[in-house]
Amino acid sequence: MAEKKGTVPFSGTPEQEAQLMQVIAQHKEDKGALMPVMQKAQDIYGYLPIEVQTMIAKGLGVSLEEVYGVATFYSQFSLYPKGQYKISVCLGTACYVKGAGDVFDRLVQKLGIKSGECTPDGKFSLEACRCIGACGLAPVMTVNDDVYGKLTVDDIDEILGKYNA
Ligand code: FES
Repeated sequence: MAEKKGTVPFSGTPEQEAQLMQVIAQHKEDKGALMPVMQKAQDIYGYLPIEVQTMIAKGLGVSLEEVYGVATFYSQFSLYPKGQYKISVCLGTACYVKGAGDVFDRLVQKLGIKSGECTPDGKFSLEACRCIGACGLAPVMTVNDDVYGKLTVDDIDEILGKYNA
């Protein structure tokens, strides 16, 4: 089966798995163990891929559907890892009216991933955010701690190029 585009292969270590098993063992008898175990699992792995969800489901004796349902319902959980470079495009009102949607679409097209995903090489992740308080520079995006303002879709290639060097 072809690898789904935009996903990074899971690469958990035996140490991480041992940590997770310990957390599961600690909480196994608790009512409402699922949320705390998932939070700790995300601390350990940085995100909650299906492999980790499966370990949690088996460990706690709940269905994978239940784990998946919680993972996708709460925004604190991420199903995808963050990239080396975290791209965040402001889709707040000021940015949106100045074309942030087009900037976002160009990034989706250039990187081949959707919002919340990470490129298969682990380099870039993409997300939308709310106003970051730099409306005077609209439309705005950030790459890790770098801020780019007054963007047009034509700026995207050059900006990505900086990080691809
Ligand atoms: S709306 Fe984008 S920075 Fe304020």
